[in-house]
Amino acid sequence: MNKGFDETWLEQLKAKNDIISVMSRYFSLQQKGKNYWACCPFHHEKTPSFCVNGYEQFYHCFGCKEHGDVITFVQKMESCDFMTAVEILAKNANMEIPSFYMDDNIKEKKKSKDTILKILDIASKHYEENLYRKTSVKAQEYVKKRKLTKKELDKFHIGYSVDWTEMVTYLKSKGFKEEEIVLAGIANQKDGRYYDTMGERLIFPIYNIHDECIGFSARSLVPTDYAKYKNSANNIVFDKSKNLYGINIVKKLKQEQNVDYIIIVEGQMDVIALNQAGFCNCVACLGTALTPLHARMLKNISNNVIVSLDGDFAGQKATIRTIDTLVSEGLNVRAIKIPENMDPDEYIKKYSKEEYQKLLDNAVDYVEFKIINKLEQFDLNKVDEKAKFVKSALNIVNELNTNSEKQVYLDVIKKLSGVPTDVLKRDLIDKKEEKISQQQPVVYTEDAEVKSIKFILASLCYKKDYANFDFDLKKYLVNPSYIKLYEILKEYNDKNEKFLISFLYDLFDVENEPNIKDIIDYNFELVDNPKIYYNECIWKVRENYLKSMIKNLSEQSMKIDDTQKRLETIKQISELQKKLRNKILED
Ligand code: UTP
Ligand code: MN
Repeated sequence: MNKGFDETWLEQLKAKNDIISVMSRYFSLQQKGKNYWACCPFHHEKTPSFCVNGYEQFYHCFGCKEHGDVITFVQKMESCDFMTAVEILAKNANMEIPSFYMDDNIKEKKKSKDTILKILDIASKHYEENLYRKTSVKAQEYVKKRKLTKKELDKFHIGYSVDWTEMVTYLKSKGFKEEEIVLAGIANQKDGRYYDTMGERLIFPIYNIHDECIGFSARSLVPTDYAKYKNSANNIVFDKSKNLYGINIVKKLKQEQNVDYIIIVEGQMDVIALNQAGFCNCVACLGTALTPLHARMLKNISNNVIVSLDGDFAGQKATIRTIDTLVSEGLNVRAIKIPENMDPDEYIKKYSKEEYQKLLDNAVDYVEFKIINKLEQFDLNKVDEKAKFVKSALNIVNELNTNSEKQVYLDVIKKLSGVPTDVLKRDLIDKKEEKISQQQPVVYTEDAEVKSIKFILASLCYKKDYANFDFDLKKYLVNPSYIKLYEILKEYNDKNEKFLISFLYDLFDVENEPNIKDIIDYNFELVDNPKIYYNECIWKVRENYLKSMIKNLSEQSMKIDDTQKRLETIKQISELQKKLRNKILED
């Protein structure tokens, strides 16, 4: 797929980026005969099965079957889309991206994006310098109190906003306009004056996977009930649902060595404390819940994660939610609970990194974690509570796909509750029957049709296995963005080309199109049985259409004087009613 690029230009780009030398920047390759070999960067292995053919400029892994050319390689290594990979390679080869490729709208956006990134880069460096000014005593004392070492301060480029205006003045002196500084999220306007949004706070720059500063998280130096941390607002370079604090460091780590697993923590202070203790394989969400986009981002680096959120009640609740998102994106998930309601930062400081390592070593897989988590809600010394525990634990086991998996966890429940496995098994079978009999039609609300359309489109975008193009949704759509989206999805599907969610950012002005944003951010977690729901949604759309057709025709038929014509209309109506009754999807 060339995504609109001129074929000859792409050929040139590839010719100037020899696959062997591009790869050598990430890891070393060994020449054997005509080919080059390495341990596969995309799966864990000890003996090389990753083969690169320099003559034909492609790679193939005999272990995991991953293969492609230099562009796909960069896409995978940098966890980025086609366009970004092209940009990286073009920069590498000193080639200009042909401007005819970009229409004016995209060009304009790219310019504004580049300016914002530039401002953020300059600002982050200036904040960092400001931390070491003689007058920044308060911030320096705070940093000392939190036991941050110089190594970590440098690694994370921690800085300080000395007051409410200094940064604005500085950026203006560098030639940036006030409006641009506001767009970058660094300043707010109030009564015609511009103020630093992060005024008098300790600054944690946030980097994307390509190591570009895209925003800030800033901590108040004094105890406060209101906004202990302030994060940059979302803008064209920063989106909390797509970025993780520490991801740039984990990615770099992956380029140097195999990352066995990634630790997910709650706060950036935890990421820094863990780095300080030698655990560099960790990330934190930026004050939001973990999204499927986050999960996919992690999966590009490692299939294995350990969830290590705060040990308090809120943290444990968030752990369950996080687990479910990660599992539904296909990651291998384990979790730990830090004792005494602590977060990783506190635990390492109070005990030691060795003690934290022990917690990691004892991390249990997510099913067991969920069962043990339930245990805390019940007092097993009471007979009725024990029964309730068993019931809710069986609910967890019931979600699993295979009998052998179920068996393993029935043993866990048996150990915890003392209820014999065969009794548990019988209950499990009863549950299955109960579940089947409970499947009742969904009650639709007013905007059910819009909801249904969103779900169908989201399922198609995310290539859910239950979603397909058998039902021609297009004629039921009215929203122009959805029509465009559907057409594009269908085109990719017809051509058998891979559609990536990231394309949507090139195709739509996502920030200003909530309808498209809803699709990208679709929360599949909230859907109990997606396959059944998908069919219900299809029917909902069709049903609404049939009903409104019937209504229109009925109204018309009242006005028709000609008996013959009226009879025809009535016949049409009865045909539609038949389709409605028999749930016929085709016209
Ligand atoms: P925590 O309150 O658990 O952070 O919030 P922490 O790491 O223990 O902070 P310290 O140790 O007191 O400095 C976890 C994360 O939630 C977000 C931040 O990203 C923080 O790192 N958060 C928290 C906010 O966005 N705003 C807040 O007011 C508080
Ligand atoms: Mn903390």
